Amino acid sequence: MHTQVAIIGAGPAGMLLSHLLNRAGVEHVVIERVSREYVLSRIRAGVLEWGTVETLRECGLGDRMDREGHVHETINIAWRGEEVLTVDTGEMVGKLMMGYGQTNIQEDLYNAADTAGTTIFFESSDVELHDIATESPSVTFICNGVGERIDCDFIAGCDGFHGVSRVSIPASVTTEYEKEYPFGWLGILSETPPLPHLLYANSSRGFALCSMRNQMLSRYYVQCPLTDSVDEWSDDRFWAELFDRLPHDMATQIQTGPSIEKSIAPLRSYVAEPMSYGRLYLAGDAAHIVPPTGAKGLNLAVSDVRYLSRAIVDHYAGEDDYLESYSAMALRRVWGAVRFSWWLTSLLHRFPDQTAFDQRAQEQELGYLSTSRAAQTALSEQYVGLPYE
Ligand code: APR
Ligand code: PHB
Repeated sequence: MHTQVAIIGAGPAGMLLSHLLNRAGVEHVVIERVSREYVLSRIRAGVLEWGTVETLRECGLGDRMDREGHVHETINIAWRGEEVLTVDTGEMVGKLMMGYGQTNIQEDLYNAADTAGTTIFFESSDVELHDIATESPSVTFICNGVGERIDCDFIAGCDGFHGVSRVSIPASVTTEYEKEYPFGWLGILSETPPLPHLLYANSSRGFALCSMRNQMLSRYYVQCPLTDSVDEWSDDRFWAELFDRLPHDMATQIQTGPSIEKSIAPLRSYVAEPMSYGRLYLAGDAAHIVPPTGAKGLNLAVSDVRYLSRAIVDHYAGEDDYLESYSAMALRRVWGAVRFSWWLTSLLHRFPDQTAFDQRAQEQELGYLSTSRAAQTALSEQYVGLPYE
């Protein structure tokens, strides 16, 4: 089979790229390792930059988001067990955020792919990229027990951190930047009404976060040691720890309930440069990972795909400037989000080797954020997302 673009990975990056290429009439196929159901079973983040909201609306994927999503007007950070600073991003930078789960976006993307009749090879194995440094790359894989080969003009590596694309680039070409954090996030979903606003907490006991998926589905997190396992965390222990990390008057607003999902995720910052090699272009988690603190993972996948789809469409119109500048342009935004996520993670979490001085310095910075319009503007413009290039 020959096509113009072979997309590796049917997660948010791969399927948004597919949708944008469909709208531009660029032929492509998608090759995915697991089943559609497995992809949809993953619990992921739920806060969209306004640029992501506008992108989804512009490409016809905004209706359900606008019906079921929840617009966040403020970011709230509790600290010292009694203070709560509120940042009104609309007032600071004229932009808001949207609470809408990645799983919902994934469903919307698959429904759009069904409508477009997109070819997605689910449950593919032995995926290999060939001749990526030439103008005639190809992908081989096995699907339904049949060996397949796709000859194409471009390969889009949207296969996440553990995918095959990034590692298909010669090690001599790639520079990796990595930082691992000495703690994880224990997250639960509960079918209970959420707090009205996003609430982060810096507490001497560790980080906590109160978020949501919809008006009857709440998402809560507490920082925990990487050595912990979910079995050690009963619902009662989770709720008690969450409450201990929040101001009392905030904790009393929370309606508890049984967890319907509970998991521990490690935190990591990672960037691989460059994000392209020959006819292979990386997008999303295939090229970079951020700690979830700044809710940037999904939003970076969207910005990468905006740039890459524009570059590919321009190529078939005879213009390669955006293809040539893709990696540098994407990395400018990636590093902005990676640095912001590292800064917010460092500000809000308790590190194992942290001293009383460190805790006091964190609280001082939060106090400064509480009183400085300039500091709140800087936080807001990075949190809601800087303009696309
Ligand atoms: N061949 C084909 N598909 C693969 C391979 C492979 N060798 N390896 C991985 N995949 C698939 C995975 O099964 C997954 O469905 O690629 C997809 C990558 O999706 P994500 O990991 O979700 O990455 P991305 O699409 O970039 O979206 C980033 O998703 O994981 C969250 O926190 C992350 O919010 C961020 C967003
Ligand atoms: C979430 O809703 O899962 C969420 C919200 C904000 C974050 C991270 C995760 O910073």
